[in-house]
Amino acid sequence: MSNFKIIAIDGPSGSGKSTIAKKIAERYGYLYVDTGAMYRAVTYEILKKNVINDIEKMISLVADLDVELKFENGLTRVFVNREEVTDAIRSSRVTERVSEVSAISEIREKLVDLQRGYANQQGLVLEGRDITTVVFPNADLKIFLTASIDERASRRLLELLAKEEDVDFEFVKKSLIERDRKDSTREISPLKKAGDAIEVDTTNLSIEGVVDKISLLIESNIENLKPS
Ligand code: DC
Repeated sequence: MSNFKIIAIDGPSGSGKSTIAKKIAERYGYLYVDTGAMYRAVTYEILKKNVINDIEKMISLVADLDVELKFENGLTRVFVNREEVTDAIRSSRVTERVSEVSAISEIREKLVDLQRGYANQQGLVLEGRDITTVVFPNADLKIFLTASIDERASRRLLELLAKEEDVDFEFVKKSLIERDRKDSTREISPLKKAGDAIEVDTTNLSIEGVVDKISLLIESNIENLKPS
């Protein structure tokens, strides 16, 4: 069993962050925190209340929002004001608008506070866009996951086809490129590799291959652990 307390994983959409983070959390008995789900949950509510084009209204709506992740047998359930939105936040409508919402600093501040609040005795694996740079810059292990754009688009296409969405490769690739652009060029907490994060390119690796590689990093770094 590792003594790591916080493992932070960032990377672009489709790099495999959630699949890998879940498996690492399972292997080490840590809590898995999907921070993208939180940005999706507030975007869902903003769309539902029809305030997407009004920054002030978005900020005041989110200020009063109760965003909650519930962890059950390795699964994460997402709630907004006690309404379960676990599936609804994965819709294309939310995916299309979430980058805009997550560029707003007041909204980020609220969600970053919630994310930091998950730090506990058990240990955490968090994944997102700013975990290694802003949320937990002193995490015990910082990983930047990447994969080629074609590989990421193929993975996302398979997920969407499984949900019977009517999309093709070029459409998925274009929307990934657009989301990457917005997430990495925004002013506040853009997606970028932290100087001391370890880059893992998953393009030609299986899921197990990536999990083994990160497990090796965790286990080979045990002697360098900071006192907790
Ligand atoms: O990981 P995901 O695709 O579910 O994330 C949805 C969006 O949320 C992503 O396009 C950018 C935003 N996000 C963010 O800005 N910061 C995070 N830590 C996680 C996600």
